[in-house]
Amino acid sequence: MSKRPIKSNPCVDTAPSTQRAVPSSVADDAIHAVLDTLATSVAVVDLRSRVKRLNAAFEDLLGVSRRLVVGAKLTSHFTEPELLAQAIDATREDAFTVTRFEASLQPDHQTHALPVHVIVSRTDEPDTVMVELLPLDKQLRQEREERLVDQALANKELIRGLAHEIKNPLGGIRGAAQLLQMELENKALHDYTQVIIHEADRLQSLVDRLLAPHRKPHVVGDVNIHEVCERVRAVLLAEYPKGLSVQRDYDLSIPEFRGDKEQLIQAVMNIAQNAALALGDLRARGKANITFKTRVARQITMGKVRYRLALELHVMDNGPGVPAVIKDRLFYPLVSGRDGGTGLGLTLAQTFVQQHQGWIECESEPGSTDFKILIPLS
Ligand SMILES: Nc1ncnc2c1ncn2[C@@H]1O[C@H](COP(=O)(O)OP(=O)(O)OP(=O)(O)O)[C@@H](O)[C@H]1O
Ligand SMILES: [Mg+2]
Repeated sequence: MSKRPIKSNPCVDTAPSTQRAVPSSVADDAIHAVLDTLATSVAVVDLRSRVKRLNAAFEDLLGVSRRLVVGAKLTSHFTEPELLAQAIDATREDAFTVTRFEASLQPDHQTHALPVHVIVSRTDEPDTVMVELLPLDKQLRQEREERLVDQALANKELIRGLAHEIKNPLGGIRGAAQLLQMELENKALHDYTQVIIHEADRLQSLVDRLLAPHRKPHVVGDVNIHEVCERVRAVLLAEYPKGLSVQRDYDLSIPEFRGDKEQLIQAVMNIAQNAALALGDLRARGKANITFKTRVARQITMGKVRYRLALELHVMDNGPGVPAVIKDRLFYPLVSGRDGGTGLGLTLAQTFVQQHQGWIECESEPGSTDFKILIPLS
């Protein structure tokens, strides 16, 4: 796709509006409140690209607090700052120009640049320009998430049905093998009945794990996400006292929410345990790192429902990354990339988080894996 700015003349009336005598701070607050309700990322910058206003969606995209961005140059957040600078220059020369181009945003603390569609146009305020961003992958991702949510629901029903069907005859098989063993005089044949009993027990515990989230009552209380993180952190550090550091990067302003604390601890624990296991080699060299990062996200869509506010909990590690062959099926039951894994940890984590109307997603490459738990707050 071309990265050259494309100019066009809009068919909208861009004549300056009459300015009303409203005290500027009140007017600013009102403008911010309106901008914050937009799902699109919008910033108002001056002709030297210094940010005057920024809405919540833009703040989320940059991953930086508005306080740090206002007054600074917006161009510094783009991998090719000259594209934005050119577009702003174009509006300076011709107030009716609207420039559209594709660019890459470099959000703070992220290794990946984010491809965005940028629209630059003049505003009614003198010498200011409006910059709108549309993340290019957002639409595609939203469609994919909706499909995955439907698929996860269908999977859950299938698993529950299958688990019940397997569970019922298991007791009978085990009991019959025990009776048979008692009747067998030839002790050498006991090895065979033991195999049946052992395998029946293994299947029983697998089925119990599969049914666990559906059996346990959902105990709802006030949950502080940081208490959840701290519990998991304490267990991790006790289990892996050497070579692993577990960092915290908390946004302590995240409010408490109604939820099942034990379920959420289990979900975060399953994710963090996977990370700790994947970090085996780095632990041995004292270089393993897991980070718990919490943030507030605004205007989030999950499973076709739009939420005003959500919490984001990232469990990040510097391990080798999720094996490519299982990346697309990571949350499916019985999908495992390690010896001895049952492949249920992430399925259960996803189920627990979904019971909070939330969602888990994963981005992973060698050296950087990020499991993001999203839970709506309002
Ligand atoms: N942080 C991570 N880094 C690398 N690989 C990971 C990470 N998290 C998960 N994986 C991969 O995803 C697979 C599936 O994880 P999941 O927790 O569902 O099952 P499991 O760990 O294999 O078994 P268990 O049921 O005991 O948890 C893991 O086997 C591992 O290969
Ligand atoms: Mg696991």
